Amino acid sequence: MSDGMAMPKGFLWGGAVAAHQLEGGWQEGGKGVSIADVMTAGANGVPRRVTDGVKKGEIYPNHWGIDFYHRYPADLKLFAEMGMTCFRTSIAWTRIFPNGDETEPNEAGLKFYDDLFAECLKNGIQPVVTLSHFEMPYHLVKAYGGWGNRKLIDFFLNFAEVCFKRYKGQVKYWMTFNEINNQTDWRDPHPLLQNSGLQLDENDNWEEAMYQAAHYEMVASALAVKLGHEIDPDFQIGAMVAMCPIYPLTAKPADIMMAERAMQTRYYYGDVQALGSYPAWLTKYWQRHNYQIDITAADKAALQAGTVDYVGFSYYMSFVTEATKDDPDFVYDEANDLVSNPYVQKSDWGWQIDPIGLRYGMNWMTDRWHKPLFIVENGFGAHDKVEVDGSIHDDYRIKYFHDHILQMEKAVVDDGVDLIGYTPWGHIDLISASTGEMAKRYGFIYVDQDDLGKGTLNRSRKDSFYWFKQVVASNGADL
Ligand code: BG6
Repeated sequence: MSDGMAMPKGFLWGGAVAAHQLEGGWQEGGKGVSIADVMTAGANGVPRRVTDGVKKGEIYPNHWGIDFYHRYPADLKLFAEMGMTCFRTSIAWTRIFPNGDETEPNEAGLKFYDDLFAECLKNGIQPVVTLSHFEMPYHLVKAYGGWGNRKLIDFFLNFAEVCFKRYKGQVKYWMTFNEINNQTDWRDPHPLLQNSGLQLDENDNWEEAMYQAAHYEMVASALAVKLGHEIDPDFQIGAMVAMCPIYPLTAKPADIMMAERAMQTRYYYGDVQALGSYPAWLTKYWQRHNYQIDITAADKAALQAGTVDYVGFSYYMSFVTEATKDDPDFVYDEANDLVSNPYVQKSDWGWQIDPIGLRYGMNWMTDRWHKPLFIVENGFGAHDKVEVDGSIHDDYRIKYFHDHILQMEKAVVDDGVDLIGYTPWGHIDLISASTGEMAKRYGFIYVDQDDLGKGTLNRSRKDSFYWFKQVVASNGADL
């Protein structure tokens, strides 16, 4: 098909990963234990467990990833062959500060990313870096209570400063916290740990704890933005939100208000990071619930002074909600208030496929935050079948990308959305964050490994590899 529209000159085409999902080498080069290292393997519908430290006999897929730690030079050649001009990855905090609270960084960890970024640039690929992507030091959880503790701000800033100074000249685009708004689903312990390193019990108020932790993270993010600009005024430092537009099920006014409150609840993080202050509805909500969030005058000034340069976001699916409770507050409970959308299909993992939702989300964020956007994740997790000759015919993935890229192009070309680039998630198969599976594959590049870490680890090109290569070569015109 050739129904695409060329993107503006200089548009970045790439791929996105996170350190803990592909590097492996979990104990190499002095690396410490991260929260991803204590998460066991789950499966479709089977949640991952978090163990109290690394336990013998348990299966921890992030320990091996896809062995990118040793194989990155060959992998980068494949990325370059696909035409990628950028590569989004994260810096594993535990490679630089194994426990998180040291004052001096670990040189072996710093050197690993020096070499990785140099290799990227050698291949004509610019690194795009997330500082904290679901992989904070486990020690910070155990010894400090994670982001529930204000001290984490200083630990994070120390980490950010070391990275900014060391990789200045190699990295221009940064993001502070991956999908910071996933913890909207605070009734589920998984996002609370992944986003904020919180491990709460029945005596805690989980909602209040989440708001507090997210506040400290957003202050840390704002201070990092300011610091980064002082270190290099050319740095572009972004937020990163998971964009799942939440539609009302019907035109019933209560459904409309429910969807509006759900959007406010899920995206207030973007309001704070892009606009520099909390929305009024939320401070009123805290007052009504008597939540005492520790927000100082200095914090407020920091949030104002450290608004982000752009908003990075992931887009996989849209949600639908309806007002079923007689609740004047329309409180949004992500675990119970979402319903199925009768108009769209779902992936094997139940993720609703909605290409127009991407265009909708891009317009919505532009109207609200007035910042450039960067699509730093989008993709289709699916089971792939390897034919006897080794080929993989993933036409379902090509269709997903075709339909989404087309909507992205409409948002840019027809609607005038300012978009920096597009990095499909897991352009090389890797460990799933939610399930720990290998079987949930996103890649254009196949990795021969199963859920238990068995396989040759050989890389091969799926049909989508050649398709995406042609998309990049035509700057999006040839879909
Ligand atoms: C996002 C994360 O939630 O979606 C990634 O930033 C994650 O880390 C991706 O891998 C896809 O989710 P999953 O659970 O299918 O791996």
